[in-house]
Amino acid sequence: MTEQLALLGGDKAVTVPWPRYPVIDQEEVCAATRVVMSGFLSDCGRGEYVAAMEDAFAAYFGTQYALGLASGTGAIHSGLFAIGVKPGDEVLCANHNWISAIQAVFHAGAVPVLCDVKPGSFSIDPAEILRKVTPRTKAVIATHLWGIPADMDGILSAAAKIGVPVLEDVSHAHGGKYKGRMLGTLGAVGCFSLQGSKAIVGGEGGVLITNDELIYQRALVPGNHPQRLRLDMMRDEVKPFAAAGGMHMYRISNVAAAISTAQLAKLDTLNAAREANLARLRDGLADVPFISWPALDAGSVRGWYGAPAFYDESKAAGVSRDRFVQACQAEGLNMFGEGYCDWSQIPVLQDMRLLGQLFTYKHANGAEFRPLPAGSLPNNEVIKRTMMVFQMPAVPSPLLMDQQIAAIHKIAANLDAVRDFVPVEA
Ligand SMILES: Cc1ncc(COP(=O)(O)O)c(C=O)c1O
Repeated sequence: MTEQLALLGGDKAVTVPWPRYPVIDQEEVCAATRVVMSGFLSDCGRGEYVAAMEDAFAAYFGTQYALGLASGTGAIHSGLFAIGVKPGDEVLCANHNWISAIQAVFHAGAVPVLCDVKPGSFSIDPAEILRKVTPRTKAVIATHLWGIPADMDGILSAAAKIGVPVLEDVSHAHGGKYKGRMLGTLGAVGCFSLQGSKAIVGGEGGVLITNDELIYQRALVPGNHPQRLRLDMMRDEVKPFAAAGGMHMYRISNVAAAISTAQLAKLDTLNAAREANLARLRDGLADVPFISWPALDAGSVRGWYGAPAFYDESKAAGVSRDRFVQACQAEGLNMFGEGYCDWSQIPVLQDMRLLGQLFTYKHANGAEFRPLPAGSLPNNEVIKRTMMVFQMPAVPSPLLMDQQIAAIHKIAANLDAVRDFVPVEA
């Protein structure tokens, strides 16, 4: 192929416009309009819109309980409290994560212990759970990052060995499955974000699911209005909180609840379109030796927050992952490398004078957040160096996939030029 690379001034291979996201149709418009016209915008109890949302989520996931919340972060904080995490406890979670899943541990008054990912995966390594446990460890967070189900057999068995519950953060994997079981239902509690870039959206919002009555009732405590607490908290263990809980204000708005309910009804359709788009992209790139894709266990189904892939520089004529990504972006691909930054090295988690302005990080029982030296999480380093994420449209987009395939073939045919490209300094 002799086409000029877009990186070198040629035409972009991808010309089809990217479909608008989120996928908002009449259903969401009608649902939101109904709420707005009703004038019933905030709900301190469990009125029509919140109840409809919670019932729909509980039915979809097959759980006893679903609790609508204002955000995924609020759902994780509420979930941690619900499973018994208290100030001075430690919670094991992967450093390769979205930062608010880590910070939610501080919101609960506890200390996050940053763990490495399982080699070649995007989720906490069960071996790290056993390595980093202390007498203060009270929970594990398993995040199904980038939609790929975490190793739940390994995580659940390690957590059982140390006697603590698992909170699943399913914010990247709505509708995904682990060996046939819905993600979010394997641990003690499942938490989801419904923020606008997620697989289904509420604008902002979150939801927590569980089969445990006490966990559900405790989950109300950090962020719900006393009206709702009095309504739903019947167990003696939680009744003392009924007059007032943490008052973090994690109530979901009625508009967000109504939009999320409409979105949930199309989750399977959106995921099927993403799956078909990825299948076409993967098939078309099967002959490209330097791109590979994470393998899923039998019976497992990915959820969606883009489609992660691995890049092997040694099979790409020495073109670095970042330079390859730059060439792809120049061609008009909607993708990126590296994923999330190394949170363990950000100022707030390195400089305790900063962290101390936000959270209590040192407790009388000896629990203390300790900054990690750079390079302490080797698998994390490898993942960050080799991963890429391809955005996946939630509507059928065969032409867009074909153009991306053509773009990558164009790059693959010109690897020497990509490698030798010298960017003009800004
Ligand atoms: C993996 C993960 N967990 C938690 C959250 C927090 O969700 P929210 O932004 O709704 O608070 C996000 C959101 O971006 C996320 O990606």
